[in-house]
Amino acid sequence: MTNMQTYQHYYSNLEEMSEAVADKITLIAEKKISQRGLFSLVLTGGRTPGLLYRLIAEKNINWHKTHIFWGDERCVPPDHADSNFRLAQRNLLDKISIPPANIHRMKGELPDPEEAAQEYEQEIRFFLSHITNSPEKKLSGKLSGFDLVLLGMGEDGHIASIFPGSPIIKSTQITAAAYPEFASPRCARLTLTIKILNRSEKIFMLISGNKKKQIFNDIKTGKKKSSRKYPAALLQPQGVLSWEIAG
Ligand code: 6PG
Repeated sequence: MTNMQTYQHYYSNLEEMSEAVADKITLIAEKKISQRGLFSLVLTGGRTPGLLYRLIAEKNINWHKTHIFWGDERCVPPDHADSNFRLAQRNLLDKISIPPANIHRMKGELPDPEEAAQEYEQEIRFFLSHITNSPEKKLSGKLSGFDLVLLGMGEDGHIASIFPGSPIIKSTQITAAAYPEFASPRCARLTLTIKILNRSEKIFMLISGNKKKQIFNDIKTGKKKSSRKYPAALLQPQGVLSWEIAG
């Protein structure tokens, strides 16, 4: 059972949400870097976060002490129009000075998605058990989680590349290969699993539009079937789940 706290913040539009979330990310980064010397940030794909990434690129974040991961990636080359890495590269990475070793890219270009997922899982395990040397890990022996995960949500309640009814929902892995039939773009993907997402200290759910707002309300009111229908309903991070709702 986690001691998760859930918040929701409403904004008139995507610009207002992006500006507010950029300020929050900056404060969290400063706090984590002053507390234990580094900040781990997981980026999302999709159309929602582009402006947010451009805004945090202008913030005074110590990128030399920040490690960037992805919540999911399409199985395409990193320079492909559908690549989530490319989205972050054009809106953030090309605008900041960050050591290449701090950029932990999911290798969507590898021919075998399962192999790419296993490789990323090893990279995450190494980072969380060696680089962070988090005191909680030493105490409990349990693998700690990321400091902050940014997630979008589809109009079917999917998060990262965990789609309704996906076997990944019950996966005991940290990273998995996904083959969603009804996703757009329709391609194989790599995704973090609920297991590792729920080890995060904070999750920001970035949503906009009425359909996603309705899904949030279904989840918030605990309509019994929502947890089965919507993977987003399964999020229970260790600390805070904050719904950032635009429009
Ligand atoms: C992806 C994303 C995905 C996205 C949602 C919302 O690879 O597509 O990670 O989970 O966040 O589909 O996408 P929009 O922000 O475009 O609505």
